[in-house]
Amino acid sequence: MSGRLENKVAIVTGAGGGIGGAIARSYAAEGAAVVLVDLNEAATREVKNAILEAGGGAAALIGDVSLEETAVRAVEMACREFGGLTTVVASAIYDAPYQPAPELPVGEWKKSIDVNQTGPFLLVKHAVPVLAAGAGDRGGGSIILVASQLAFAPKPGRTWYASQKGAMVSLAKALAVDHAKDGIRANALSPGPTADERFFSQWPSEEEAQANANTLMGRLGEPEEIAAGAVFLASDEASFVTGIELLVDGGYTAV
Ligand SMILES: NC(=O)c1ccc[n+]([C@@H]2O[C@H](COP(=O)([O-])OP(=O)(O)OC[C@H]3O[C@@H](n4cnc5c(N)ncnc54)[C@H](O)[C@@H]3O)[C@@H](O)[C@H]2O)c1
Repeated sequence: MSGRLENKVAIVTGAGGGIGGAIARSYAAEGAAVVLVDLNEAATREVKNAILEAGGGAAALIGDVSLEETAVRAVEMACREFGGLTTVVASAIYDAPYQPAPELPVGEWKKSIDVNQTGPFLLVKHAVPVLAAGAGDRGGGSIILVASQLAFAPKPGRTWYASQKGAMVSLAKALAVDHAKDGIRANALSPGPTADERFFSQWPSEEEAQANANTLMGRLGEPEEIAAGAVFLASDEASFVTGIELLVDGGYTAV
């Protein structure tokens, strides 16, 4: 197999999910070996099997990204199974209730920060030394933090979500500043509304979800269209791209 991510080794969190799964499969199709991290064992196994059946390389780690040991084990797994690490993608998400601040329980606020903000921090904390040490001869390291178009254009009740996704954009910039000298690029990737189970679960029907896409394209994005942005950011085609936020949102934020 040869492709745009030949010789890359990636960790993808939330790899059992709609977007994380599409990113993992697209990475493998482009030649990367992928460590899949997720709490959902069945969904992760499905993605892993699909990659292996297509002739790609994948290993699965069932773990909670809010725990430091999960980040440590994921980095160790990449090195042990695939001989190094070049790329990390933070896509896992804990969904707290969509409520305005006065109604949102403090416990939900804290839990969502643990998974959605501390999780990506722990991943990069443990990945950066390995990316810095070994990714140079494979085109350099790449960190991709999945944010959201709602960081810029929140819908009602998105207090926790918009603020935590905005934090991903700022964290990517801060990592870009600190680690350019280590040959590491860091970027945020902001999907727009995307046709997966998580999005559909917010609407009474898939038809209603599509009708409320609010994109210039008049439809939801497909997970593979979001994954295409993640492939670009991980690839050597993005060798001069760092500290940005790549919006793949069908024009949601254009108006
Ligand atoms: N779907 C959309 O419309 C949309 C739009 C903008 C941004 N996003 C972002 O894209 C990313 C992926 O979203 P998705 O639609 O694929 O969601 P999803 O619910 O399909 O996938 C999320 C995955 O994260 C896993 N997860 C949850 N908590 C975890 C934990 N503590 N440890 C490890 N894994 C955990 C879940 O098991 C699930 O497989 C998220 O960061 C989300 O905010 C999605």
